[in-house]
Amino acid sequence: MSTKIEKKNYAAITAIGGYVPEHRRTNLELEQLTETSDEWIVKRTGIKERRILDADLGTSDMAVGAIENLLENYSKKLEDLEAVLVATSTPDMPMPATANIICEKLNIKNVLAFDLNAACSGFLYALDMGASLIESNRFKNVLVIGADKISTYVNIHDRTTNILFGDGAGAVWLEASEEPGILDAKLLSNGDGREFLNIEAGGTLYPYDYELVGSEKRFIKQEGKVVFKHAIEAMSKTCLQILEENQLSIDEIDWLIPHQANKRIIEAVGREIKIAEGKTLINIEHYGNTIAATIPLCIWENTHQLKKGDLVMLTAFGAGFSWGASLLRWAI
Ligand code: UT7
Repeated sequence: MSTKIEKKNYAAITAIGGYVPEHRRTNLELEQLTETSDEWIVKRTGIKERRILDADLGTSDMAVGAIENLLENYSKKLEDLEAVLVATSTPDMPMPATANIICEKLNIKNVLAFDLNAACSGFLYALDMGASLIESNRFKNVLVIGADKISTYVNIHDRTTNILFGDGAGAVWLEASEEPGILDAKLLSNGDGREFLNIEAGGTLYPYDYELVGSEKRFIKQEGKVVFKHAIEAMSKTCLQILEENQLSIDEIDWLIPHQANKRIIEAVGREIKIAEGKTLINIEHYGNTIAATIPLCIWENTHQLKKGDLVMLTAFGAGFSWGASLLRWAI
């Protein structure tokens, strides 16, 4: 296979870890809180339960859990790291970056560390930034994390969002490699979607104050139908572009690992790009939409299925709107 860009230095994923909180918020629990039903939620979204982090813990705690899980299963040493990139829309605090807080908790010293916010597409953006650092030949070991504690921003009494979202974190170790690992990415965004999916309060425009404490602005808000339609169109189109630009047919893709926002969206994208049945990996049933964590968590849960050399396509869509697709060769 010839990729679009012939690269001198390659980056590959050589280890992966994941973390989800223990507490489960089930559909039955949501039935007690709002006018909804397990049947409606499963039929319309594919979700049965989500994990919710304790109120006194933050996004960094889940990221640390994912990194510790990675270290338990792969022989990696934190002292080899040169960069820590965290994709999140729900940082522990406005500053310092959650990446810095993770470094402090794990005693990671003297590395490039920063957060990146591209909402549900954040992990794909961070993966591409991490790969670029390695391809620049200035970095050899980069940790890329997708982590979100979105439950903080979910109005538990709003049935249009409380059914969808959950907390989690995933981490991948990117390493300089002789063989191409991260092959290509097409990551895009525009501002057209701002009104359809957002959390308005908590930033500089609507800072938290007494007025906002009881306001709807502090919660995640979504026009589900609009987002649904754009998500299918944007992910399908970008996946097809990646295939075309790399002169690949869909049959050469071993696995499609999409952002987990709604099972119906995932299935519609699969139909649009005509991927064979059984090649799309889905774990939305147990975790719901964990924002930047869905893709690394889905890869992590399915590592037993992935074989070294498999061609994997990732795709995501989220607030902004921001979206994209990535192509990689599984290297573990
Ligand atoms: O990660 C970022 C990207 N996010 C997404 O991709 C999410 C995109 N959107 C969606 O996943 C879906 O639009 C939802 C799951 C949010 C909603 O599904 P839908 O099929 O678009 O339902 P709808 O909003 O059109 O509502 C259909 C009906 C309405 O009742 P009527 O007007 O037909 O009588 C709603 O009021 O279902 C009602 N409804 C519910 N009923 C029970 C809406 N939410 C619920 C609920 N339980 N939770």
